[in-house]
Amino acid sequence: MRNIFAKAITVTATAALVLGATGCSSERDGEAGGAGKGFAADSLIGVALPSKTSENWVLAGDLFTNGLKDAGFKSDVQYAGATTTVADQQGQISAMITKGAKVIVIGAADAAQLSTQVKQAKEAGAIVIAYDRLITNTKDVDYYVAFDNFKVGQLQGQALLDGMKAKKPKGPWNVELFSGSPDDNNSAVFFNGAMDVLKPLIDKGDIVVGSGQSNVKQTAIQGWKAEIAQQRMDGLLTATYSHGKTLDGVLSPNDTLARAILTSVKGAGKPLPVVTGQDSEVESVKSIVAGEQYSTINKDTRKLVAEVIKMVKTLQAGKTAQVNDSKTYDNGVKVVPAYLLPPVIVTKANAAEAYANDPKLAPLTK
Ligand code: BGC
Repeated sequence: MRNIFAKAITVTATAALVLGATGCSSERDGEAGGAGKGFAADSLIGVALPSKTSENWVLAGDLFTNGLKDAGFKSDVQYAGATTTVADQQGQISAMITKGAKVIVIGAADAAQLSTQVKQAKEAGAIVIAYDRLITNTKDVDYYVAFDNFKVGQLQGQALLDGMKAKKPKGPWNVELFSGSPDDNNSAVFFNGAMDVLKPLIDKGDIVVGSGQSNVKQTAIQGWKAEIAQQRMDGLLTATYSHGKTLDGVLSPNDTLARAILTSVKGAGKPLPVVTGQDSEVESVKSIVAGEQYSTINKDTRKLVAEVIKMVKTLQAGKTAQVNDSKTYDNGVKVVPAYLLPPVIVTKANAAEAYANDPKLAPLTK
């Protein structure tokens, strides 16, 4: 079973009723949440995004501003600051409620610190959509729209293995593992997805985690900060790889951290290991094409934002929003009905094909 939340998945009686009532035939095919009353077609829609830790968040903000306007809505798009992140986001959501937002779309700065604000939103009659990152420990989140995060992790684990095999057909391979920020619910999901592929090989001794740091806590990078990843990699190289041991691969949860890890390895004058990533950031796509970073994940932000805006329009009309997963995302209090999009693994081999329809990235692969 997919271990996506720290505790066992428990489908609550309410969620089971919702599933039963909608008569969905499989976990990935159905509808959830009742049709509401709808709201005025020019209503205010709030969008609260976390700090700009990755290019995808910056792009999402622009796409929401333009897309909501084109759909006839008023929008209020806000980012939490880099330092007082959680407090910023809490204040921004409260302000959106005060201004009368009918839907509040949230990319959580801290998954577990928004229950007061989403409760207020519900009490004011707003619909809450968790965007990309789940909001945990609350019943007051209506929908979750994201790429399939567990699948992202599985693709990263498989890419790490494939990349190492291509360089050195037989193990044992020495690796180090990195995971994302502990306050982001996605971090453990990505890590568990990757471990779904890597753990059997670690258990067999085909993959050796040189430092022995192999759980999500030991490998976490607070705030998804590049400088923290670089420092951790510096430390690992000194402690474990300064006496001739070769580092074959590094599991990196995203591109920002992948580049920091590569910078550290270069600084130490070591041969570059296979390094995974995520987000298809410009500098990482260039690095992949140049043969440095091994892989990234294409999670097309344009598609994700379009999916949310489609959902907002459906809700505006008083209809039931479409979801395709009603089982996976237990936030600790309820199973949140989700609409999940499929992520795509990208290496040098398929970069041109993967980005063919992306005007920013396609030219980099030529
Ligand atoms: C997103 C990733 C991103 C990371 C850091 C995660 O929640 O899913 O795409 O790299 O946050 O911003």
